[in-house]
Amino acid sequence: REKKLERIVQRIRSFPDFPSKGILFKDICPVLKDPEALTAVIDLFEQHVRQTYPQVELIVGLDARGFLFGPLLAQRLGVGFVLIRKKGKLPGPTQSVGYTLEYGMAEAEIQEDAVDAGQKVIIIDDLLATGGTLYAACELLKKQSAEVLGCMVLIELKDLNGAERVKPSPLFSLIQY
Ligand code: PRP
Repeated sequence: REKKLERIVQRIRSFPDFPSKGILFKDICPVLKDPEALTAVIDLFEQHVRQTYPQVELIVGLDARGFLFGPLLAQRLGVGFVLIRKKGKLPGPTQSVGYTLEYGMAEAEIQEDAVDAGQKVIIIDDLLATGGTLYAACELLKKQSAEVLGCMVLIELKDLNGAERVKPSPLFSLIQY
């Protein structure tokens, strides 16, 4: 586990003042480019889910970088994958929830028939900052009467206290800054 985490950490770059002043952007592109690091990410997520939530039925990924890891994890686990997107991207009847972001406002949307009532889901994204995005995702899944087992991110920015906003859903993060 330590070796895998080290490999991932080595592949995360920081860019100050992107996309706006005062934001230290964590760039995960090098993780995706390195097959060993990407495999390590999915291995560690898979291990956590198998140990903690063996009953999981669906992985729900957040726009846009949750889509990079979610389907890989879902395939490993043999479960389906569902998308929560920024408003206006999904066809057919949808439900939406507004939220504040580290840099701006946004609205998250899910297809009305995406999740069955009572389905056990795990939400995945690349990064937790203020927790606004994950909070909106939890609200959307509540509207769908899903059972959110937990939330998982590759990177957690501890200072912003995002884990508080995600409560009572438990948060699992691979790397903390
Ligand atoms: C980033 C990140 C998370 C979210 C975290 O996405 O990928 O989804 O912000 O911030 P929060 O915890 O403060 O809500 P962004 O909104 O930049 O969208 P993108 O993935 O489409 O670039």
